[in-house]
Amino acid sequence: MAESAELYRPGLEGIVAGETSVSTVLQDSLAYRGYTIEDLAEHASFEETAYLLLRGELPSASQLAAFRSELDRHRPLNPHVLEVLRRIPAETPGMDVLRTTLSMAAHFDPYRGNDLDALVGRATYALAVVPGIIAARMRLLAGQPLIEPKPGLSHAAQFLYQAFGQMPTAMNEKILNLTFVLYAEHEFNASTFACRVTTSTLSDMYSALVTGIGTLKGPLHGGANEESIKAINQYKSAAEAQAATETQVGGGKLIMGFGHRVYKNGDHRARILEKYVEPLGRERNDMNRVEIYHAIKNVVWERKKIHMNVDYPCGLVYFFMGLPLDVYTPLFVASRISGWAAHAIEQFTNNRLIRPRSRYVGPEIRPYRPVGER
Ligand code: SDX
Repeated sequence: MAESAELYRPGLEGIVAGETSVSTVLQDSLAYRGYTIEDLAEHASFEETAYLLLRGELPSASQLAAFRSELDRHRPLNPHVLEVLRRIPAETPGMDVLRTTLSMAAHFDPYRGNDLDALVGRATYALAVVPGIIAARMRLLAGQPLIEPKPGLSHAAQFLYQAFGQMPTAMNEKILNLTFVLYAEHEFNASTFACRVTTSTLSDMYSALVTGIGTLKGPLHGGANEESIKAINQYKSAAEAQAATETQVGGGKLIMGFGHRVYKNGDHRARILEKYVEPLGRERNDMNRVEIYHAIKNVVWERKKIHMNVDYPCGLVYFFMGLPLDVYTPLFVASRISGWAAHAIEQFTNNRLIRPRSRYVGPEIRPYRPVGER
């Protein structure tokens, strides 16, 4: 029997594993530092949202301007980082590329010490370089010349400019900014909790962020946005999608982009993002994919009464924006760096080593037997 009072749930389901002031994830609301996701989605830039998460307050005009110029200052990638990016084999998954390249970029960390400004500075540096790494990789894989960052653009416009080599439409900039705001933070999800565990040993910010990347890669967590559009793209019609999804659900297969450990009445973020599925589908004259999207969603609801999560609409929205599938989860990272870093800073500034107990279910104590007797 364990020495301490046993409180065990598989996957820590429903277990309160710590306190946070960064966000609240509830059935009826999602809020970052007390601001609802609806308000932030409607009014905030990602830069304001990231500042809010990192510093605890929305920035004033001068604070926002200073934050944006600090992001711009860090955007040009170090030549050694670009050299690593060039050397990674072409078929390497985007999340593995990001894990390696952020680690390389960390070696050129311009901040020293561990006071709050240094910790926020490292988060700002990571926020600045990650979109540039994703865009540069896109260009290298397409055999296109790299695009230097253009100071003064919004965070969302900067990525699209460096990825496509031209200024984005206002709609695409607005939608990418929205997805960045929606993906920024989500309490003790698997990757954020992993970042807190790493930080609780008094390791460093970049080790925590790379922990987050490795954890988010899994399709049960962040990788679902890529998997959900792959599913949509394999069907020619809504009828085909419906039949195939009926079979999959009937056979107990997980449908990527659906379900959530916490939300049982639906993911607030998915409802907000879904509003753009139809307009983008019409703009791209591709309502067939929209019908396939709805057909899959209807089957999962009819058969399992399970709601979509944010990854489901995100896959189709990014597809309509012309983004290659392999950058969808890396873009999730580009946003979630802000939440991961906010939690790492919170853990670091009020730390207790995270070290839970386990319930032993292995063999009883037994005598050693020499190899000749086994
Ligand atoms: C994210 O935690 C966060 O906050 C994460 C996140 C964030 O912002 O950080 O919101 C981002 O990770 C969203 C989730 C992305 N992942 C997926 O879409 C992958 C598919 N989803 C499932 O793997 C699942 O829904 C989880 C992992 C997300 C949640 O799983 P739980 O809480 O462990 O639920 P469960 O596996 O116990 O499922 C309960 C029942 C089971 O059926 P029964 O065995 O009871 O008959 O619901 C079924 C499950 O089979 N079910 C699904 C399903 N999800 C749950 N059946 C079909 N398709 C699904 N997607």
